[in-house]
Amino acid sequence: MGTQKFLWTAPFAIFLFAGCSKPAPLPAHITVEMKKYVITPAEIHLKLGEAVRFEVSAKDVEHGFDVPALGIKEAVQPGKPASFMVTPTRKGSFTIECGIICGPGHDDMRGKIVVD
Ligand code: CUA
Repeated sequence: MGTQKFLWTAPFAIFLFAGCSKPAPLPAHITVEMKKYVITPAEIHLKLGEAVRFEVSAKDVEHGFDVPALGIKEAVQPGKPASFMVTPTRKGSFTIECGIICGPGHDDMRGKIVVD
């Protein structure tokens, strides 16, 4: 490699190395299970403005993971987990509702997201 080429390449290589050594932090990950008629965990704590990836699975029948106050509405089918990002823009306590009729206990299938 000629000196001229080396001088051109070196700063670029250093730039690439510096870029690779500091990967962007991965968003936090929350796993939620829905099963007649319980949402686990029952209470989820998030931080205002912090992106979180939700991975929601249904263990028996189809359920819905709805948090109207935060604009979340996801259908969750057994064997097909729903994966979605949430970045809370409001502080407070918000009810998670099951959004799909799943049996006699459907109306009581609730959880809570607390944003602080
Ligand atoms: Cu679960 Cu409705």
